[in-house]
Amino acid sequence: MRIFLVGFMGAGKSALGRGLAAELGLKFIDLDKEIEKHFNKDVAAIFATEGEKVFRDAEAQKLSEAVEGDDFVLACGGGTPCFGNNMQVMNDAGVTIYLKMSTDHLAQRLEPETETRPLLGGKKGHELWTMIHELLQEREPDYLKAQYKVKAWDLKAADLAEFIRLYENVGATQEEE
Ligand code: S3P
Repeated sequence: MRIFLVGFMGAGKSALGRGLAAELGLKFIDLDKEIEKHFNKDVAAIFATEGEKVFRDAEAQKLSEAVEGDDFVLACGGGTPCFGNNMQVMNDAGVTIYLKMSTDHLAQRLEPETETRPLLGGKKGHELWTMIHELLQEREPDYLKAQYKVKAWDLKAADLAEFIRLYENVGATQEEE
């Protein structure tokens, strides 16, 4: 099975994805890390030296390489579902889950990290909140194309795994199906 976690920066895609993969006995793929390996530099450096377009092309490329495989949980970048046909690729390949979080919670999580995240440009306080609010409004229509929408604040990987087992019938015998 292929599981894709989508959502805004700071929604917990990587941490929950790693935990979910462990719970379900699947491989974990962090899409940002795959891109970083390809360029041998971190996301901020790729944005700074290559520019966003090169990053987005590599993101789509790494996603299409990933879906050739199976049995994984993949954590997207916050922008992955919003470019090209990435969201369609994920919906066609497997189970998609939107980790939904409010602007207040996202701002709280992202405030200490704004220097290292290229899209946040060191913004703080109200300026950061407004930027998140506007970008989330722009992106949410794409996130909402995910098959499942889950409230991500305080969500535990074990609970998400239980949800997947129930709704996707993971581990069920043929008689149970
Ligand atoms: C981005 C989110 C980041 C990373 C890049 C662009 C975005 O991933 O892909 O900085 O466009 O929202 P995370 O959501 O994992 O931080």
